[in-house]
Amino acid sequence: MKSQAERNRLGQFATPTSLARDILQFGIALLGEENRIRFLDPAIGTGSFFSALLHTVPESRIDAAKGFELDAHYGEPSGDFWRGTNLNLEIADFTQIKPPREEAHRFNLLICNPPYVRHHHIVNAEKSRLHDATKAACGINISGLAGLYCYFLSLSHIWMQQGGIAGWLMPSEFMDVNYGKAVKRYLLNKVTLLRIHRFDPQEVQFGDALVSSAVVWFRNDPPSASHNVDFTFGGSLLRPKISRTVPFSVLHEAAKWTSLSISDDQEAAVCHRLADLFKIKRGVATGGNKFFIVTKEQIETGGLPREAFRPILPSPRHVAVDEIEADKDGAPVLDRQLFLLDCRVSEEEVIARYPTLWSYLEKCKHIVSERYLCRSRKVWYFQEERPPAPILCTYIGRSDAKNGRPFRFILNHSKATAANVYLLLYPKSVLARAIDRDQSILRRVWEALNNLCPKAILKEGRVYGGGLHKLEPNELGNVDATPIIKAVPELKDLAKSIQPSLFDPEAAQRNVS
Ligand SMILES: C[S@@+](CC[C@H](N)C(=O)[O-])C[C@H]1O[C@@H](n2cnc3c(N)ncnc32)[C@H](O)[C@@H]1O
Repeated sequence: MKSQAERNRLGQFATPTSLARDILQFGIALLGEENRIRFLDPAIGTGSFFSALLHTVPESRIDAAKGFELDAHYGEPSGDFWRGTNLNLEIADFTQIKPPREEAHRFNLLICNPPYVRHHHIVNAEKSRLHDATKAACGINISGLAGLYCYFLSLSHIWMQQGGIAGWLMPSEFMDVNYGKAVKRYLLNKVTLLRIHRFDPQEVQFGDALVSSAVVWFRNDPPSASHNVDFTFGGSLLRPKISRTVPFSVLHEAAKWTSLSISDDQEAAVCHRLADLFKIKRGVATGGNKFFIVTKEQIETGGLPREAFRPILPSPRHVAVDEIEADKDGAPVLDRQLFLLDCRVSEEEVIARYPTLWSYLEKCKHIVSERYLCRSRKVWYFQEERPPAPILCTYIGRSDAKNGRPFRFILNHSKATAANVYLLLYPKSVLARAIDRDQSILRRVWEALNNLCPKAILKEGRVYGGGLHKLEPNELGNVDATPIIKAVPELKDLAKSIQPSLFDPEAAQRNVS
């Protein structure tokens, strides 16, 4: 009865029965076949895990079973359904409930598929409440960019009995992204991490959620420095396709954990990376494309001042070519000609100088000016500074793309900027100087970028369900630039003769350390 948008807001994705049963079977094995059970599911929904628990052990072994559900739409029928069992289901916000004070009232089997609510949907006051509560619960500082599931995991700490087992079905992205660092610190420092099983993104677990998922298992005991963690991948939790043991020390060092389950490659340090050649930035996040990006006709019919707009590329799906030519004014030669409202003068000045633009701004102000991006700007319609980039990268793509290339590099001769569906590659000084001397270098570098082995790029990024890959600017920057330097002999000479410090100070720092 719920729309996708409503379900997204509360992170409502039911765990498939077979997966719930695998999880319970595994959790019970970790707990020990003899132990009595105090079960907790902090985000119980209709009770898939409780159902699987009853399927796995006799009810007489369960001393207590507790579940929380925020949404009465699920909680009430669920309560009716499980009446007659010993499940105590509370319709409440788990994050607001006071945890038990006594050890005997805590739980030794905590299984959860927490709500996957992205940080954009958590208002600031709520974020700071959750931040303080998790800090109090386990001493971890969660970043404001973290999704709700990170708070759930850390808040649950004080609900667990000493030695209790927890199994969390959650998005695997925490293993690689910045905001996941706090969760990893928790798993390494506060508890004993036992196993992480990552499902193969090609075999999507939730038909309706574009995230790849993992099951994270730990015991509520302090960690020992010498222990190893099982990393498994693909297949099912009980019958993974790949399985390897990763020493605790490697986990401490590794910035990204997802590749640990699939590769032994402890890779030698890469001397030159794309970040040594390019400053890489995400394109403009306008805060409201419908409003800030307009067509030529809209400018003309609205009598809007042309100087308040500059060309912007359409999204990659409307750019079939990999090389964008420019007309005599520098506008891109494409079927779709778009312009970004990029006016850097105050409201007072707009009123005085551009009355038509002012009435356009006024019409849309109430729609966009209060959006997060717009309200965090000095003036709500000021755009980020993003000069035209000579090379752009389409950084969201599928590994099974028809042309075998999940990401495209586009050579841009125009003066168009680009929105945040692109990454913008600006040559750093050494490369820029080389290009100034010989324009053909830019073209050859671009060709070499498009010839990079897709795997070398993919392994730096992150992967979502259904084989959808994505790269952040720093991840693209991490890609090994050796093939580019090899393909462009002039760069090889530069790389040989020039110390990394001339590429950029950060690289020098990295190489020294
Ligand atoms: C990913 S679903 C999992 C449901 C069920 N445990 C399962 O595995 O099928 C997460 C559930 O958490 C509920 N939820 C969201 N925020 C919550 C909160 N603050 N406290 C308790 N439950 C919450 C959602 O309504 C949803 O039913």
